[in-house]
Amino acid sequence: MESEIAGWFSVVLRFVHVIAAIMWIGNSILFTWMELNLIAPAPSKPDKDGNIPENPLLGHLDMLHGGGVFHLEKRTIDPKAIPVPLHWFMWQSYTTWITGALLMVSVFYIHGGSALMDGTKSSLTGFFPIALSVGGIIGGWLVYDTVWRTKLKEHKPFAVPLSLALILAAAWFYNQYFNGRAVYIQIGVMMGSFMTANVFVHIIGNQKKFMASLLAGKPHDMKYGKQAKLRSMHNHYLTFPVLFLMLGGHFPQLTSAERNIPILGVLIVSLVAVKFLMNSRYYFRHWLPAIFGTFAAACGLIALLLAIPTKASAARANLDPAVAAGAKLFLSQGCAACHQAGASRIAPNLQGLLGSKRVFTDGSGLIADEAYIRRSIREPVADIVTGYPLAMPPYAHLPEEQIDALVAYIRSLK
Ligand code: HEC
Repeated sequence: MESEIAGWFSVVLRFVHVIAAIMWIGNSILFTWMELNLIAPAPSKPDKDGNIPENPLLGHLDMLHGGGVFHLEKRTIDPKAIPVPLHWFMWQSYTTWITGALLMVSVFYIHGGSALMDGTKSSLTGFFPIALSVGGIIGGWLVYDTVWRTKLKEHKPFAVPLSLALILAAAWFYNQYFNGRAVYIQIGVMMGSFMTANVFVHIIGNQKKFMASLLAGKPHDMKYGKQAKLRSMHNHYLTFPVLFLMLGGHFPQLTSAERNIPILGVLIVSLVAVKFLMNSRYYFRHWLPAIFGTFAAACGLIALLLAIPTKASAARANLDPAVAAGAKLFLSQGCAACHQAGASRIAPNLQGLLGSKRVFTDGSGLIADEAYIRRSIREPVADIVTGYPLAMPPYAHLPEEQIDALVAYIRSLK
């Protein structure tokens, strides 16, 4: 009963997280689109003393939707006429982060963070895995925020590659300890947390400051908006990579690939580049071919990173072609998403399975032989290992030689 209720709450949490994220990212994309499409007002004419009066209008825009035209103006606020109601946008972001943090705790941080770890890479125990993950989120924010508070922010051609390089260095670091799925999630969570912290500290923080100065009767000061806008743009460019990394758990062929970190690098850089090119359409004539070019180059590069054998995979292939084929299928069929090397939180650790004693939920048991492994893959419902839910999909549709290869691979896991 308890586990059914816990399972139901995890569904609710995931759904709220996804809906809030869609609302937040949808806003980010729409607001940036509006910003890029604003039509600037005609320059103001000098008055009789030769002074150019300040124009409160920053731009306007007409949008067809819902059977009418939204005529939208962006303007500075007159402290004597602060609009009511004035809508603020922050709860989509905060809801996304809060539900994301709860998910992180319920999926990865329970049981001392064992779901983060890869026993074949390292054996951190106690609270170390959780401390490593939380430390990266807080420490990463301090580093990122410092870089973009200093003069470096004036030198984007340097600061942007530096920020991306720091993210990749973090990914490399986590890959020394965490399993592939957890590495992708950790980097996604770090970037997603930077985004919410940007909203909380810089965007809403500055909006509160300038609203306070307006309420004190001072004229609208654009300096507050500048810092907020820079962080808004960061958030905007992070949306595509963060979405991809959050879905990483569904792509074990990438997260658990031997070159998972270079692949992560190509994904982040190309997704930021695609968003940038989408925004460049108003001044860059070849934006569309450039997007297709970036897309094709990234796909090709990732295919190469997956296909070119590494030292480890070449050594495996020398041993036994069936084992090597099985190892590939184990990734491409999604087995590795649940059966993670060295971990047994989501699904049993398959190392040393052959010849070991298995106990099932109906109280029966047996010594695992090849026939058992084969049956477990084709019809998981036949014997459900104690301590696990019936979560594994049946793979009876796989051709016989693929099942043979998977069995050979599982046999080889000592
Ligand atoms: C959605 C998660 C999931 C996926 C994907 C998955 N499994 Fe499983 N697997 C489980 C769980 C949970 C169990 C334990 C419960 C059971 O026996 O059904 C299990 C059990 C097994 C067992 C028996 C292990 C034991 O300890 O006796 C084998 C063998 C196995 N899976 C192989 C595979 C292979 C091969 C693939 C890919 C073709 C795969 N699994 C895909 C979740 C998964």
